[in-house]
Amino acid sequence: MRNRRAALAAMATAASLALTLSACGQNSEGGSKEKSGDTKGATIGIAMPTKSSERWIADGNNVVKQLKAKGYKTKLVYGEDDPDTQVSQIENLITQGVKGLIIAAIDNKSLNNVLQEAADANIPVIAYDRLILGTKNVDYYATFDNEKVGKLQATSLVDKLGLTNGKKGPFNIELFAGSNDDNNTKYFFNGAMSVLQPYIDKKQLVVKSGQTKMNQVTTLRWDGATAQKRMDDILTSTYSSARVDAVLSPYDGISIGIISALKSDGYGSTSKPLPVVSGQDAEVASVKSILAGEQYSTVYKDTRQLATEAVTMVDDVLNKRKPETNDNKTYDNGVKVVPSYLLQPVAVTKDNVQKELVDTGYYTKADLGLK
Ligand code: GAL
Repeated sequence: MRNRRAALAAMATAASLALTLSACGQNSEGGSKEKSGDTKGATIGIAMPTKSSERWIADGNNVVKQLKAKGYKTKLVYGEDDPDTQVSQIENLITQGVKGLIIAAIDNKSLNNVLQEAADANIPVIAYDRLILGTKNVDYYATFDNEKVGKLQATSLVDKLGLTNGKKGPFNIELFAGSNDDNNTKYFFNGAMSVLQPYIDKKQLVVKSGQTKMNQVTTLRWDGATAQKRMDDILTSTYSSARVDAVLSPYDGISIGIISALKSDGYGSTSKPLPVVSGQDAEVASVKSILAGEQYSTVYKDTRQLATEAVTMVDDVLNKRKPETNDNKTYDNGVKVVPSYLLQPVAVTKDNVQKELVDTGYYTKADLGLK
């Protein structure tokens, strides 16, 4: 990164030259007078958090495909779930002269300095799925209705337990939340608790471990092994004689860890059935688990649609159009309310896998091992 300052200074000169040229109706390469003149063939940098989860691989591929269809070049990087790696990757993208950035943050508070560098180079930033906090240098946010995701997760649990159909319980439930450095975590958890809390208050749901506060139940970097360990510990400390009936899980990778711990403890037989477990992202392994009657539900978020939103936003900003947003009040990042577009998540159980995931072309039958 030794020459970053020099590179940035050179870029700033290039950018102002590009501006001058585009004011004359030409792009920076001296090209044609098309409307989108100085953005044609521009490179967009895409920073994704990790390849360890297939959804982010799909997100990256979808964004690249859709940007290319609009005539952009792309540079796609994955940060291996390490915040410092992501910061230096974004610095590199800026140095390489990208004209726009689409970022799914690993640590929502680690990007302030690098986004100042982006702002200094006039590079617009779209927060992808996860809001970036504590900086004015984030222009738009493309995501799903995150609170609704949590509500769908919890609703699937209380429905399956029969609570919404008059069963009284009490049922034992344990709670898991996502990574505490991901802004979505609190939306998922609070959304879920808005459904669960009334039943907890009426003692129809009981959290036997006593771990009900978000900071007691988060899972750093959404790591399945971390969740598995916590579930193991809870089973040992609290459930030597009692049974777990439901587990709120915010994400499929965490659900897999939870289900492994449960199976190691003897759950999954007719006499000791698995509890009802939720999830999110409709990842293939978890959809297969749902079809096999293990995980109960997931929340499907069509990453193709999310990519379309983010790509449209960056393309609009670069072409001086105002991107369409549908929520301009919820996502306050501590410095500003970031104008957002919220897509709709969909609850999926065994009953609607075909309709939501196959008929929509998200997966083929073969992907899911279906005939
Ligand atoms: C969240 C995202 C979820 C899930 C999770 C773990 O930010 O909204 O859909 O993917 O990260 O990767």
